[in-house]
Amino acid sequence: MDKLVIEGGVPLSGEVSVSGAKNATLPILCASLLTAEPLAVAHVPHLHDVTTMLALLAQMGVTISTDEKLGVELAAARITGPVAPYDLVRTMRASVLVLGPLTARCGEARVSLPGGCAIGLRPVDQHIKGLQAMGAEIAIEHGYITARASRLKGARICLDLVTVTGTENLMMAATLASGATVIENAAREPEVVDLAKCLNAMGAKIQGAGSDVVMIEGVERLHGARHRVMPDRIETGTFLVAAAATGGEITLRDARPEILDAVLEKLREAGAQVTSGPDWIALKTNGALNSVSVRTAPYPAFPTDMQAQFMALNSVARGTALVTETVFENRFMHVQELKRLGADIEVEGNTAVVKGVAHLDGAGVMATDLRASASLVLAGLIARGTTTVDRVYHLDRGYERIEEKLSRLGARIKRVR
Ligand code: EPU
Repeated sequence: MDKLVIEGGVPLSGEVSVSGAKNATLPILCASLLTAEPLAVAHVPHLHDVTTMLALLAQMGVTISTDEKLGVELAAARITGPVAPYDLVRTMRASVLVLGPLTARCGEARVSLPGGCAIGLRPVDQHIKGLQAMGAEIAIEHGYITARASRLKGARICLDLVTVTGTENLMMAATLASGATVIENAAREPEVVDLAKCLNAMGAKIQGAGSDVVMIEGVERLHGARHRVMPDRIETGTFLVAAAATGGEITLRDARPEILDAVLEKLREAGAQVTSGPDWIALKTNGALNSVSVRTAPYPAFPTDMQAQFMALNSVARGTALVTETVFENRFMHVQELKRLGADIEVEGNTAVVKGVAHLDGAGVMATDLRASASLVLAGLIARGTTTVDRVYHLDRGYERIEEKLSRLGARIKRVR
């Protein structure tokens, strides 16, 4: 198992490019199931989760070719097995994103229930409720969701809570339904908008993506298309926090500042100077940072996927911050590990009280989930001495060549077996 060894204390400086967004790529790859014609996807990040999704789609009969320029072409001329088995879904919950497209295109799907994971229970009841509203017959048997429908019918669906992959699954299913579907209380995340853009390029009729009401007029069939994946806003935010917390100065290319308002605002509140243009963001610091309280909530509020990284920043900032997690019930696994580095953090319910300390000291820590791992890498960059982050495979699921990019910014970080 790989580890990252970090010698902390170097302010990051320089320029790096942001990769394609993991959470946009995964649903977009699944959209290929909706048409017999090829879908060409560009700016695909080289990540473990993307490889897992491609393996799942290939297993269903999708033909996949890749090029060296981060391009993937997928052709689902015939779907031979509309099944997502437990061994794949278990390792990547986003596999549930095949449920909507398979039911719409094949009239049947068998997808393993994902089960709980490190950050919470994460049920998929809203995905199921939406498909049932569209006329699918759903059975839960032997740990699998089985969906059947001769053709899905447009419906009015009001989601009980905001769910990103739930909205995406139902939006994909509705593209091939007969009649119109309205999804109320839809997720407004930019990744939902990117998926809608790809689906519309394939001939779907979707309006309102990015708002909380998405309208989809079903069509008989979709066709092939080309789509370039949006930049990863969480990777962007993670590098900005790394630069801020180490007292550095960086520029991120191929970024989209307009989808990071809540994060950029918090960085400014902490005392960092942030400037941006249409496709770049630059950050520099001027002395020590102030603590910033954050409360996670669905977009456009502060993202849960940036909570752990701000916890690392707050652990060495001036003052006390309250970090409140409202999206997932168990997303504080990094707290115990940050404490091993000397952070002063107490958890009360869904709030962590973070008192800034003068410095962190390097130690061995263990990654537990993707964003928790990112916060430990940031803490390692801040800390005095050597930090070893174990179980780096969590990080490889969502950050493309993180140690390479950080090295380019001057960090002393290496991967060891
Ligand atoms: N929920 C339900 N029922 C459902 C669906 C969701 O109760 O049917 C609950 C969840 O348990 C959670 C909340 O609703 O408490 C929100 O979950 P959501 O469905 O929005 O999360 P997701 O779609 O499974 C995506 C991202 C996550 C990100 C969340 C929130 C992808 C592939 N994953 O997950 O990304 O944290 O939205 O923004 O898009 C990550 O990249 O590290 C990651 C975990």
